[in-house]
Amino acid sequence: MLSLKPMTTTKFVTEVEDIDLSQPIDAVTIKDLRDAINRHSILVFRGQSIDNDQHLAFSRNFGDLEIHTVKQYLLPDYPEIIALANRGENGTTPIDNGGAYWHSDISYKAKPPMGSLLYSLEVPPEGGDTLYTDMYAAYDALSEEMKGTLEGLRAVHGYAARFAKMGEGGKRPQLSAAQLAEVPEVSHPIVRTNPETGRKALYVNEGFTLSIVGMAMDESRDLLDRLTAHTMEPRFVYAHKWRVGDLVFWDNRATMHCATAYDTQYARTMHRTTIQGDVPI
Ligand code: SIN
Repeated sequence: MLSLKPMTTTKFVTEVEDIDLSQPIDAVTIKDLRDAINRHSILVFRGQSIDNDQHLAFSRNFGDLEIHTVKQYLLPDYPEIIALANRGENGTTPIDNGGAYWHSDISYKAKPPMGSLLYSLEVPPEGGDTLYTDMYAAYDALSEEMKGTLEGLRAVHGYAARFAKMGEGGKRPQLSAAQLAEVPEVSHPIVRTNPETGRKALYVNEGFTLSIVGMAMDESRDLLDRLTAHTMEPRFVYAHKWRVGDLVFWDNRATMHCATAYDTQYARTMHRTTIQGDVPI
């Protein structure tokens, strides 16, 4: 049986204690972890010491892994691992703060990833936290009138504009034609239902959501801005302060996240694997 220690007053985040992710995990424990991620949305494993193969092996217990479109961030011998490393790693392009905007990973794909597993190797003494917001709670807290308005609405998600905005000191190139072809704009329901539990979550994010299908642009922008402001209210947000050896497993179907700033004289090195998902319903 899993040993779970809540990290928020709600069910949102829980630490999973007494588990060594460098070792193979038995089928019963995997099932318990799957149940836990459906219940809690964010699982925190502290004090881990895993190499790349062990990170991949643990991640694969939850599904096939995604390989990111932007190859310069992928570890050369481990393309399923994206290196969020401000000094670069084995030739990867350095990223100071790649996820410093609210998003759900890769929501711009027709089948966005179910979850992500981020492992910390080097962290600055302060800052460089990851903020997470609870999109089930954000949905539940909407007025009945707003829930009715959102019923059946779909939003367009895309990557190209966000990629261009992210920077690297203004020197970042645009996506190539081949990369753009991999990430055409897609639409997803604004309210997403977890097929395993029936729970509903808001599924729009500042990073990749561009507009609402069938709505005039100004009306669409206004509604998206209102939803974005709502989802970022502090009552829904958990700030993860990283320690070396933390692995955080989050459910992209039910959360958004955003990395915070830090003093880049310090190294920050994180490895992320990303689990493939289903068409949102
Ligand atoms: C991410 O956006 O997946 C990474 C967040 C972080 O670097 O804290």
